[in-house]
Amino acid sequence: MQKWIYDEFKHCGVDYSQIQQAEKYDDRHRKFRDFEKEFKGMIDFLELQDASDMTLIDLGCGTGAATIFAADCFKAVYAVDVSDVMIEQAKKKLGPADRNVHFVNAGFLSYNHKGEQADIVMSKAAFHHLPDFWKQIALLRMNKMLKLGGLLYIHDVVFHFVPQEYADRIEAWISGLGESAGEAFIREIETHIRDEFSTFHWILAGMIERAGFAIEKHKSDDAFLAEYACRKIREFDHYETE
Ligand SMILES: C[S@@+](CC[C@H](N)C(=O)[O-])C[C@H]1O[C@@H](n2cnc3c(N)ncnc32)[C@H](O)[C@@H]1O
Repeated sequence: MQKWIYDEFKHCGVDYSQIQQAEKYDDRHRKFRDFEKEFKGMIDFLELQDASDMTLIDLGCGTGAATIFAADCFKAVYAVDVSDVMIEQAKKKLGPADRNVHFVNAGFLSYNHKGEQADIVMSKAAFHHLPDFWKQIALLRMNKMLKLGGLLYIHDVVFHFVPQEYADRIEAWISGLGESAGEAFIREIETHIRDEFSTFHWILAGMIERAGFAIEKHKSDDAFLAEYACRKIREFDHYETE
């Protein structure tokens, strides 16, 4: 591998390679998230009627917040994460019938999808782990994983305010979240803002479009959490480094 390639296995911010992080992840996140509701929300947002013939790639699957529900309605699910301990937690939640789920210890920049191109690529709360330059490379790689006409779903913290307002916006967001999720989560959000790589909407939107996608839907209720439904409209002949 070239020496200039970003090492995505070195975690920025919250270190999900730590077993303690992986073990407490679900309990902490269930204080302010309903994984099943989120999954149904994604299916509605993408306007999917019947996914039983579809293949889904979940990049940054973590402890399987979406993977475990996807297993019940997709033909095949590829659940990818750079943290083996997060993947171990996800595996524990699958039943014996969920043989359609394939876990892969890799990441946005290293996962090589071997099967036929997927119908859906999704990433929830994980894309902000890459700096912007590498987000663009990862989006090109996602394009390659998807069928022409397939959908990319991104759900993440993406800033939707004018840059001058950053301090007040971030303070208000943190204090609002602290009320529902508690002190430990406030520390996590501070780490997110300081050490991870969430970016502005207009930057992410530009990168998505340059990677051969059309943004069909985009939503952010609080100017921080955002969902994107993007259709692959272009194949590229040449990509990058494998
Ligand atoms: C906040 S968790 C989100 C997990 C899950 N998607 C969810 O919705 O709960 C972020 C996950 O992204 C993973 N991650 C970080 N960098 C990554 C990368 N470059 N490629 C793939 N996964 C990555 C972490 O290991 C962690 O499991």
